[in-house]
Amino acid sequence: MKAVVFDLDGVITDTAKYHYQAWKNMADKLGIEIDIEFNEQLKGVSRIDSLKRILAHGNQLESYEPAEIERLANEKNEEYKDLIQLVTAADLLPGIESFLKELKAHGIRMAIGSASKNAPAILARLGILQDFDYIVDVSEIVNGKPSPDIFLKAIEGLGVAADEAIGVEDAEAGIEALRSAGIYSIGIGVEGDTTLTSTAELTYELLQKLN
Ligand code: G6P
Ligand code: MG
Repeated sequence: MKAVVFDLDGVITDTAKYHYQAWKNMADKLGIEIDIEFNEQLKGVSRIDSLKRILAHGNQLESYEPAEIERLANEKNEEYKDLIQLVTAADLLPGIESFLKELKAHGIRMAIGSASKNAPAILARLGILQDFDYIVDVSEIVNGKPSPDIFLKAIEGLGVAADEAIGVEDAEAGIEALRSAGIYSIGIGVEGDTTLTSTAELTYELLQKLN
C-alpha cells in the first residue's frame, strides 16, 4: 500500500451538514420537502445532479430550463460558501489530524478525490491543503461518483496503481466509485470493504492489517 485517497465532505470534515443546510433552504423555497434520509442520496453527488435529484423528488424537474437550474445551483453554492466561512482547523473530524501525520511519517502518498469544487478552499481553511500530494480538479472530470473517474484521476495524479491505494469514503456513491476503480474501500458509517463507524478508528496500523 503506497497511497490513500480521501473523500472530503464527511471524511475529513463535517461539511456534509452545511451542504444539507443549504439544500434544505433551497428545497424549502421551491416548496419541496427533503429530510436527512433523502439527503443520503445527495452525498458524493455533484452540485447540479444534487439539485436535479431534489427537483425530481418534488416532481418539478420538467418545470425548469437548464439555465434556471444553473442559477439555483449557484444560489445554493453562495449560501454554502457563507457557511464554510465558519470552518477552522477545529473542524477536522476525530483522528484525521493524527492519521494524516502518521501517513506522512510513513511516506504514504495522499490525494483528495472529492466531487466538490470548494475542496481546495475548505482544505485551506482546515490548514491541511499542503498535506496532500494531489487534489483532483473536479472541473476536469466529466462523470461524477459513482463513476470511477474521480478516483482514477486521483491515483494517476499520485502515480500509483489501483491495488496500491486505499480509499476512504462516507457515501454510497463514493464506495461504488472506489469499487469500479478497483481501489480497496474503507467506509465511514457506510458499508465498504472495511466498515468503520468513525474516522477516529483510522490508523496506519489498521491499513497495515488490510494489506
Ligand atoms: C461532495 C458532497 C456533495 C456535494 C458535492 C459538490 O461530493 O458530498 O454533497 O454536492 O461535493 O460540492 P460543491 O462544493 O462543488 O457544490
Ligand atoms: Mg463524502
